[in-house]
Amino acid sequence: MSEAIEVDISDLPGVGPATRAKLEAGGITTILDLAASTVNELVDNLGLTDETAHNLIFESQRLLREKGILEKDLVSAQELFDRRAQMVRCTTFSKNLDNLFLGGIETQAVTEFYGEFGSGKTQICHTLCISAQLPVEERGLAGGVLYIDTESTFRPERIAQIAKTRSMNTDTMLSNIHVAKVYNASHLELIIKALGNLIQQNGIKLVVVDSIISLHRAEFVGRGTLSERQQKLNGIMHRLKRIAEIYNIAVVITNQVQASPDTFFGDPTKAAGGNIIGHASTYRVYLRKAGQERKAIMIDSPCHPYGDTNFMITEGGIGDPEESTKKSTASWKSSKAAVAEKAEKSSSKKASSKSDNEEEDSEAAE
Ligand code: GTP
Ligand code: MG
Repeated sequence: MSEAIEVDISDLPGVGPATRAKLEAGGITTILDLAASTVNELVDNLGLTDETAHNLIFESQRLLREKGILEKDLVSAQELFDRRAQMVRCTTFSKNLDNLFLGGIETQAVTEFYGEFGSGKTQICHTLCISAQLPVEERGLAGGVLYIDTESTFRPERIAQIAKTRSMNTDTMLSNIHVAKVYNASHLELIIKALGNLIQQNGIKLVVVDSIISLHRAEFVGRGTLSERQQKLNGIMHRLKRIAEIYNIAVVITNQVQASPDTFFGDPTKAAGGNIIGHASTYRVYLRKAGQERKAIMIDSPCHPYGDTNFMITEGGIGDPEESTKKSTASWKSSKAAVAEKAEKSSSKKASSKSDNEEEDSEAAE
């Protein structure tokens, strides 16, 4: 990959100083950025002609194919298999959730978590901020994290708490997470366009967007704006997917739910954003509260069977119900044992001829 990054965008046929300036003004500074662009983006946003936009994208993609970074137009299943072999899986720290993903959150894919408020979407994202930084041997992605926060719910203190609970270096973990606070839909679109650069400059291996839809949902209100909103979301989703593939990184997005009044049986909630988000997400997981626990349901995947599992939100981020049951049983047992011990002590105290004061002193010292 590094070889292609060294190729300057001006080396492409047809890129003179004027075109280069236009591309740069639109945040496109590398061949990879250009290859991940769409004709519409270049025409509408940068004022290039249709023909130039087509040629530039065609040439940049041809170059990347030559270098073996992009798949050729026609590839053998073997080549695809080899490319998939570069895919890495990142642990969620919950064995159950990892098993649902057959090992963890994948690079080269967009993983969507959707669910009602408090279902654990943001907590999963915070946990992944830590696990993604672990070395690959420890089931991390060995890279930095870019956290795109559209709901202002990113909390560095929660990151510190998770890291501390897991005996990790809090400062190192915090300094490898780059947070982009985004306040409106067009700002989000701009950040998504500049992703290529941000990923390269900061060694990013995980991009989180929490949440993908809140800003567009708030700004594009009413039926009249629906098609524009969907078009914009479509652009964002397709770019995220291409970025995940080209840079071999994991992309995790969260999505809200909406009521589906036409559902007569079963759960009447469905993911917001319609089919546009669902189709572009590689994996789609629905989160639900289940008492103290959370249920995760694999709704859509090209290679996983339909399945569900339970996890917990803990001090250390995400964990398994068994673990916390074990822990709480253990602490319940130990407190019971302590009470019994105390009772035993006090009865032996009465029987003892020793002075009561002496005994109390030693108990306090314990
Ligand atoms: P919205 O963004 O509102 O749609 O919800 P969400 O799905 O992002 O929910 P989030 O991930 O923020 O989960 C919130 C839940 O996590 C609440 O039930 C909190 O009690 C729980 N939670 C947050 N921090 C901690 C913590 O440090 N320890 C434990 N045990 N639970 C926590
Ligand atoms: Mg949230």
